Amino acid sequence: MGKLSRRILARSSRIALLGFSLAGISLAGFGLTGFGLASCGGTTPTAPAQAQLRSSSGAVPRSPNGIEFPAKYKNWPVLSIGHRLDKRQVAVVVGNRTAVVAARAGNTNPWPNGTIIGNVVYEQKTSDNLPTVISTGSFVRAEFMFKDRENYASNRSGWGFARWTGTALTPYGNSEDFQDECIKCHEKVSGNDWLFMKPTLLP
Ligand code: HEC
Repeated sequence: MGKLSRRILARSSRIALLGFSLAGISLAGFGLTGFGLASCGGTTPTAPAQAQLRSSSGAVPRSPNGIEFPAKYKNWPVLSIGHRLDKRQVAVVVGNRTAVVAARAGNTNPWPNGTIIGNVVYEQKTSDNLPTVISTGSFVRAEFMFKDRENYASNRSGWGFARWTGTALTPYGNSEDFQDECIKCHEKVSGNDWLFMKPTLLP
């Protein structure tokens, strides 16, 4: 077995261990990543689709509050999905390893320090192949919440907020005050540790 295949195998089993299996749900964006490759048995990304994605080595500017873009989010497992009927958008909620371990253990209120939750938002699009399926259209934004109770104690939530918009991944906000908007709205769900979603159950 070649070195590369061993690496791919190792990677697949690591991802399988994390327990993602929302097979059947159409996640076009994530189907293109190593993640999709591992769980869907090897779909090769097509060139035009890949070209829509920013090169993963391209430097993405920090958010105005100093938070760095978590470029590895593309390989994170899915925790939940949302379909905003009012905004006609589909969102995929992903989490880093700390988030996934906490979610599988039901340890999510509060989420542990080190948790990162990503909300990856797309315009809703009717599937080209089946009009009754709503799938992901163009990419709108990726936004994240970083749990660090000490570092973010001053904003009451214990989370750092950051958002990047469009495929150019432009940092959102002109100054760090942009977070006030995030915090004000997410405060409605402060009883759920400031998160709207609850992780999807994986039987
Ligand atoms: C007007 C209300 C509102 C504002 C402002 C807002 N959000 Fe949210 N956010 C929501 C709602 C509703 C959801 C769940 C539905 C969805 O996916 O859109 C959500 C979901 C999220 C999630 C996924 C976890 C969860 O709570 O379900 C993250 C991460 C997130 N938002 C980050 C941000 C960041 C960063 C900002 C500020 C730049 C922000 N949000 C501003 C309403 C808001």
